[in-house]
Amino acid sequence: MAQAMTTELVTVEAYAAQRAGAHVAEVIGAIAGAARLIERKIRLAGLNDVYGAVGAVNVQGEQQQKLDVFANELLTRLLGAVPWVNAIVSEEDEGPVVFPRAEGDAKHGARFVVVFDPLDGSSNIDVNVNVGTIFSVVRLEGEDVTESVLRPGTEQVAAGYVLYGPSAVMVLAMGGEGAGAGHGVAAFTLDAEERFVLTADGVKAPEQGAYYSANEANAASWPVAYREYLESLRSGALGGMNYSARYIGSMVADFHRTLLKGGVFLYPPTEKAPRGKLRLLYEAYPMAMVMEQAGGAAIDGEMRILEVRAKGIHERTPLVIGSRREVEALQRMVLQTAGEAR
Ligand code: AHG
Ligand code: MN
Ligand code: MN
Repeated sequence: MAQAMTTELVTVEAYAAQRAGAHVAEVIGAIAGAARLIERKIRLAGLNDVYGAVGAVNVQGEQQQKLDVFANELLTRLLGAVPWVNAIVSEEDEGPVVFPRAEGDAKHGARFVVVFDPLDGSSNIDVNVNVGTIFSVVRLEGEDVTESVLRPGTEQVAAGYVLYGPSAVMVLAMGGEGAGAGHGVAAFTLDAEERFVLTADGVKAPEQGAYYSANEANAASWPVAYREYLESLRSGALGGMNYSARYIGSMVADFHRTLLKGGVFLYPPTEKAPRGKLRLLYEAYPMAMVMEQAGGAAIDGEMRILEVRAKGIHERTPLVIGSRREVEALQRMVLQTAGEAR
């Protein structure tokens, strides 16, 4: 007689608890809880009047979309309910939001700050194209929230993102420094019961891939090394690979494809944005940790992203992230041009 299949179902909360303990698991659980509700809101967006801007501009001078605000408030509220979270730092808020805590909370030892981009790819909301949420969990060191989040990306306790795509997927990496450290990368898919269930563990980025992803409309204002780099990819100079271009304009979606299929995603410096567009703390750091733990690499053009230090919470950085082969090739070209200029 055929045996019933007993595949054990692992939720993201259970996975996090096993690897990083109950406190971190509660933090991840709150993010997953918010992601569930954001996903539902997005799924029914056309029916719920959530398209469009709210008319306000955030600290970065960008138009806030209704979903930016919804996602931000939800994450703030759910994370604020976790006793181990002392503060959040969000793309949508000017400064950290510190939660009042009763005397004695701190005695539990685990105190975290969660840094996030509540809704990534907001320009795609109105056209029903993939968006995401990006998050980074860091330890509160002493009492200063800002100082804690300005520590290097190597010290992240956990990092990841949620991609709201044809299915919703949460990708999670848990801290650890040096080769082979950390717990690797796991992916969880939102199931019919609204649980994020483990669907891939030990995710690895290919050594090289067949896609490059950049806003090429900006190419004329990129530093010359970046232009020559894309030209070299197109000409087959990198191991004879035949590249295709893919650019969605939601970093989470472009990143997810790069992680699974390999290749490179880049947002170079431009004349308008000499330090790039993407934000170090809540876009580059978490994605760099995921990519490194999957065996890939992430640099700001010259140096490893996780070691780039920010002076402010909304600091920007150029970003080149993806398969080792592509990222290292770009780094060589940028360093060579810099060397020649000296
Ligand atoms: P956000 O919606 O959080 O402001 O982020 C948008 C980012 C990122 O998702 C994407 O990679 C990039 O902006 C696209 O920028 P361009 O439109 O300049 O290509
Ligand atoms: Mn973003
Ligand atoms: Mn955003």
